[in-house]
Amino acid sequence: MPSMAANKFSRNTHQNQTKGDFVSRKQMIEQQRKNLPIAAVERRLVEEVRNNDTLIIVGETGSGKTTQLPQYLFKWGFCRDGGIIGITQPRRVAAITVAKRVAEECGIPLGQKVGYAIRFEDVTSGQTKIKYMTDGLLLREALLDPYLSKYSVIIVDEAHERTIHTDVLLGLLKNVQKARSKSINGVVNTDHNNSNNGHALEERIDNQNDGILKSCQVKKYNPLKLIIMSASLDARVFSEYFGGAKAVHVQGRQFPVDIFYTHKPETDCIDAALITIFQIHLEEGPGDVLVFLTGQEEIESVERLIHERLRQLPECSRKLLTFPIFSSLPSEKQMRVFMPSPAGHRKVILATNIAETSVTIPGIRYVVDPGLVKARTYDPKMGVDSLIIVTTSKAQALQRRSRANFLNFYSGRAGRDGPGKCYRLYQESFFEKLTDSTLPEIKRCDLSNVVLQLKALGIDDVINFDFIEKPDRTAVVNSLWSLYLLGAVTEDNKLSDVGRQMARLPLDPVYSKALIVASQFGCLKEMLICVAMLSVESIFYAPREKLEESRNALKSFASLEGDHLTLLNVYRAADEFFQKNKMVHSEEKAEKNLRKWCKDNYINSRSLKHARDIHSQIVRNVEQMGLRITSCEDDTLLLRRCLAASFFLKAAMKQPDGAYRVTLSGLIVQIHPSSVLFRAKPECIVFNELVHTNHSYVRNVSRIDYLWLVELAPNLYAVQD
Ligand code: CDP
Ligand code: MG
Repeated sequence: MPSMAANKFSRNTHQNQTKGDFVSRKQMIEQQRKNLPIAAVERRLVEEVRNNDTLIIVGETGSGKTTQLPQYLFKWGFCRDGGIIGITQPRRVAAITVAKRVAEECGIPLGQKVGYAIRFEDVTSGQTKIKYMTDGLLLREALLDPYLSKYSVIIVDEAHERTIHTDVLLGLLKNVQKARSKSINGVVNTDHNNSNNGHALEERIDNQNDGILKSCQVKKYNPLKLIIMSASLDARVFSEYFGGAKAVHVQGRQFPVDIFYTHKPETDCIDAALITIFQIHLEEGPGDVLVFLTGQEEIESVERLIHERLRQLPECSRKLLTFPIFSSLPSEKQMRVFMPSPAGHRKVILATNIAETSVTIPGIRYVVDPGLVKARTYDPKMGVDSLIIVTTSKAQALQRRSRANFLNFYSGRAGRDGPGKCYRLYQESFFEKLTDSTLPEIKRCDLSNVVLQLKALGIDDVINFDFIEKPDRTAVVNSLWSLYLLGAVTEDNKLSDVGRQMARLPLDPVYSKALIVASQFGCLKEMLICVAMLSVESIFYAPREKLEESRNALKSFASLEGDHLTLLNVYRAADEFFQKNKMVHSEEKAEKNLRKWCKDNYINSRSLKHARDIHSQIVRNVEQMGLRITSCEDDTLLLRRCLAASFFLKAAMKQPDGAYRVTLSGLIVQIHPSSVLFRAKPECIVFNELVHTNHSYVRNVSRIDYLWLVELAPNLYAVQD
């Protein structure tokens, strides 16, 4: 067999698998695994896990932590007690792609020994021993199983990202570990020297074990091994939080990467990125390109523009392939970024900050970094949670740079054609001004969801919860206030029955509430569709060059009553089209036709598909809860009243100058130009989303009557004029 190692850009063996190719891919994977830096310390790491109940593992990205450690632990018997290994990821894409990769490395189909679970999708089975999942999902599992009893090892991966779910999970796991080890020592009910939250969990344990306790037995749980993995070299914060837990470092491989800055500030980032991509493509040696962009929309427009410009190049210069990767990309498309480029072609990967540390894509030699990222911010004074584009931190810029490692796909060794290159689309002086690291998410987002979940877990005193870093008091108080207004907590701050129901739904509290309210109004069927459509990014797709056509297409669905009804119309039209097609064609053909229908109607078929999946999942959820799914048919007035009763926390009144004033915060906003109500400007609206660009805009807006707010949300509106 010819040596693959020498052939950096040989044809993708995966697409045309013959038996021979299959063997070579297997060997190639084995070779890659052996070459990973972590492979050299396998035994030492396993020993450390054996000797330490809590261990912190720090290692550079790409060293093999995420894919290898769970396999080592499985191999060395950490599942022998019948427990399984859980690995959390802050991002869905990482959970999916890594699980697929590990299943392939093990040579077994996904969903058996190795599986993944994310919100709205569970690819695991009774046989699953290595389970990748999002951090948010493990938090939800704790609601049903407070001991997380099926896990013998939990690995919190990418802990340096400090997502709000990771932060809460760390606190929770600390308690679970404590409670499980106590259950072994049989002291569950005697030790009262505990922190408040440890206590809350123990009370639950007492309740749960009531029956058992009467017969003088204490249910025993196996101890829980906890591993915190991080790409940031500073392990101190985690170590201190876990009472001086041991931290070990996995040495990575650092390759030289040259950094380039622009001479002057760039005003149009997309244009600057395009120019850089083509400069690399036309002037630089082999190697793939990784471009960091801020979101799906930006990625899709850069992808389109690349293809347009490619058409203007001579045939021989067109060998450039684009691969997007972002969270809501359907999973079958996500794996494509990991395939080596076909002979003579260059890959351009258009990624969100997901490619900073969560996913490692081999073969990258060039990184294009505009220095921006879409981040959540929260203004506790205004109670406004929004996604805005901000500059990266220095730590993020360094991570992005280190992705230009040009790992050879086959050998795992660095290419020999010179260093990687990182093009920062800003000036050097600008880099110096960036903050050192990113503020943890818990410090900059709305906490209602987390507070609701903690309360559902029996942790009532959220302010004194043992967080790794405390959220701002005002933010906690605000979220308690909005949960109270939604009826999820009572006046004395206890979880209400409605709150308990809301916590069971895998949705934002406001959307969970909307489903419960809709079941009372008799329009749950419609609200399920609205909530599914509101849960995905950009259903409509309006390319700059076809703005007129896309606006016309939108008109056939538009409702003057607002965006919610418009979204409902789109969903219904798509569903009707799909069902009709399914009567005469195969499911596959019907799906294909639906994609074409979407294209003709300027609808984003990826987003629609995602919304359809979410819809079927939440239909199952509400059925399990025993809610009746009734339809209000064409009674749009009833549906809008229900929107007012659900989204009253986000209502706004028109001002004399045509702007809107948000009733709760007093914030002045505009209706976003993409809204069907942009021109109509009704007197009073409810909305779901607030975005900040040069103005504050509200999106997903519906026309309502102010008096409905007074009638339907009296504890908030009756007292006002
Ligand atoms: O977690 P860490 O950043 O330390 O590394 P990893 O995610 O375990 O990745 C180790 C190696 O596996 C990477 O260098 C990739 O070459 C490879 N990998 C892959 O080819 N396909 C994936 N879906 C994931 C990883
Ligand atoms: Mg990793």
